[in-house]
Amino acid sequence: MGRRPTLVGVLLVALAVISACESEQNTETAIAGRWYTASQVSNGEVLFDTHCASCHGPRASGLADDWRKTDSEGNYPPPPLNGTAHAWHHPLVMLEKTLAEGGVEYGGLMPGFSASLTRGERLAIIAYFQSLWSAEIYAKWEAIDAR
Ligand code: HEC
Repeated sequence: MGRRPTLVGVLLVALAVISACESEQNTETAIAGRWYTASQVSNGEVLFDTHCASCHGPRASGLADDWRKTDSEGNYPPPPLNGTAHAWHHPLVMLEKTLAEGGVEYGGLMPGFSASLTRGERLAIIAYFQSLWSAEIYAKWEAIDAR
């Protein structure tokens, strides 16, 4: 009789892999006063440069002269995400939703990234641009996020 892996055996291996991954993530603690880790910020920076900087500018500083002004077709430019514009008015779930779905559904131009980035990657990108926010802006955002 050949030895085939039992369902229980397969599940046990899967559980072991999952808990190994989790404990690896948990070894790194969040940056003081922030929700994310330093690794998320550095991964997010690379991903931001690849997927976002062409529109949102280097270090998320924006490319347009004024992010509040629409163009001749009535579209808003990609705003800075570095804490100087509007992004900090959105709780984390909304920011993540914007990255996943984009703005087209709401009449905007931003593409969605649900197919090209994992949720973990989207969160890392948010960690990166939030790392550019001042303590003051981050504290205001936290008050909104906690509501
Ligand atoms: C093709 C250009 C383009 C790319 C690429 C792009 N965006 Fe955008 N983004 C926009 C535009 C334009 C807006 C303004 C709303 C709209 O038109 O959808 C926007 C809006 C946003 C907002 C909402 C900001 C606010 O103040 O409410 C966030 C957050 C954001 N983008 C994050 C990102 C991130 C992170 C990436 C990379 C994963 C990215 N965007 C890639 C064009 C882009």
